[in-house]
Amino acid sequence: MQIAVGTDHAGYEGPPLFKPEIIRHLEERGHRVIDCGPHGPEPVDYPDFAGRVCRTILDGDAERGVLLCGTGIGMSIAANRFSGIRAAACATPDMARLAREHNDANVICLGRRILTLAQCLELIDIWLDTEFSGAERHQRRVTKMG
Ligand code: RB5
Repeated sequence: MQIAVGTDHAGYEGPPLFKPEIIRHLEERGHRVIDCGPHGPEPVDYPDFAGRVCRTILDGDAERGVLLCGTGIGMSIAANRFSGIRAAACATPDMARLAREHNDANVICLGRRILTLAQCLELIDIWLDTEFSGAERHQRRVTKMG
């Protein structure tokens, strides 16, 4: 699967730097990663990098996106402005699972200042390994969002 990854400066904070660890983890799992930046620690605006990841998905160059900011909240708000993007800020394994089963989330948003690297990798794995349930009620609700 092609996966786009982006952060803001809070998501880029280290050590450890989460983005390179997440990219390495995804590549070890056989995915191809598009690094949408940033490539340094300077302050940036999370809507800009959410936009890069979402446009990469909507252009068909990636199927999924991973976004990191301080909390995951700003990134999810920004990403959900894009029609066709269903971005879920997740902080627990159940949230990551249900974001797929019920919401067919194609973007996961994580909090660098909230979660450990190990927690981020666990949530990403659950989110990648869980299929959308496809139940009629869930599909109907997803379809209503466009
Ligand atoms: C940046 O300081 C911080 O506000 C941002 O990363 C994010 O947590 C917003 O939701």
